Amino acid sequence: LREKYINLIAEAGDESALEDLRVTAVGKKGEISLKMRELGKMSPEERQVAGPALNRLKDEINSALSAKKTALADVALDERLRTEWLDVTLPVRAQRRGTIHPVSQVMDEVSAIFADMGFAVAEGPQIDSDWYNFDALNIPSHHPARAEMDTFYMHRAEGDNRPPHVLRTHTSPVQIRHMEKYGAPCRIIAPGRVYRADYDQTHTPMFHQVEGLAIDKHISMANLKWVLEEFFSAFFEIDGIKTRFRASHFPFTEPSAEVDIQCSWDNGQLKIGEGDGWLEVLGSGMVHPKVLSAAGVDPNEWQGFAFGMGIDRIAMLKYGIPDLRAFFDSDLRWLRHYGFAS
Ligand code: PHE
Repeated sequence: LREKYINLIAEAGDESALEDLRVTAVGKKGEISLKMRELGKMSPEERQVAGPALNRLKDEINSALSAKKTALADVALDERLRTEWLDVTLPVRAQRRGTIHPVSQVMDEVSAIFADMGFAVAEGPQIDSDWYNFDALNIPSHHPARAEMDTFYMHRAEGDNRPPHVLRTHTSPVQIRHMEKYGAPCRIIAPGRVYRADYDQTHTPMFHQVEGLAIDKHISMANLKWVLEEFFSAFFEIDGIKTRFRASHFPFTEPSAEVDIQCSWDNGQLKIGEGDGWLEVLGSGMVHPKVLSAAGVDPNEWQGFAFGMGIDRIAMLKYGIPDLRAFFDSDLRWLRHYGFAS
């Protein structure tokens, strides 16, 4: 019996075979346990011999079982160590990291430059009422400027006769919202997304503007010109960029001016801040008294300038990007080409 079990234990290939053996040998109904139960039927003399012998056998088998169990665990551990090893000296695979979108980068730059001149950042909703987007800005219902803006109107349920909401066509409604809430004086910019139904090389239905607004007792267009020239010099990193104001018309400013920055075309290559060419970059003017009134600011007491500039457009100029649409294609090759992604 001893030999039989010692051999079987030595041959056991894994822990479950070993467990089966334990049950058949020394388990409650195991062979050795049954033999021990038979001790009761023996004469005292026989029992004195057989009892200790069986106990020794049981001890021996138990220690053989536990020795084998340890040996099997060692083998299993060796196997795991052999198959699951990691070579920590292997060079890592290059991981590409996300980067800030170029338009967001430019927005941050613009905000930082204006912050240095004391402008806070204001925000407004991208879906706005047509009152904020148009009426309050002196663009009444049948004004041709509404048609020119290629406005996206939000659908209203049938029978809902409230005035329509629009995807804002410019950041100018933020002028109204800001003055309504905080009054005058104020000095803010409002960067953000705007929408117009237009699509070609220089137009996308969603694009970005930054609004500027400075209201105080004596603000003039001279202040506007200084602020803009400071801005462009900082943004394009060229000292003393000149601007040119051309008389224009916006319903919400009077007088109004379109602003060009100095540039040159050198062999078809555009250079900002030098030469005697001009490039249109924004619309501006003195805030119309009606606009101040609509926003609850007394036009007899306060005056100031406003401007609206295309962020994507100045980003294209700064980075020499010919097609605006590429900004919104999410093409990694394009982003890498311009150094906007790694
Ligand atoms: N809102 C005008 C536009 O989108 C720009 C502008 C803003 C003009 C402020 C004058 C004053 O074209």
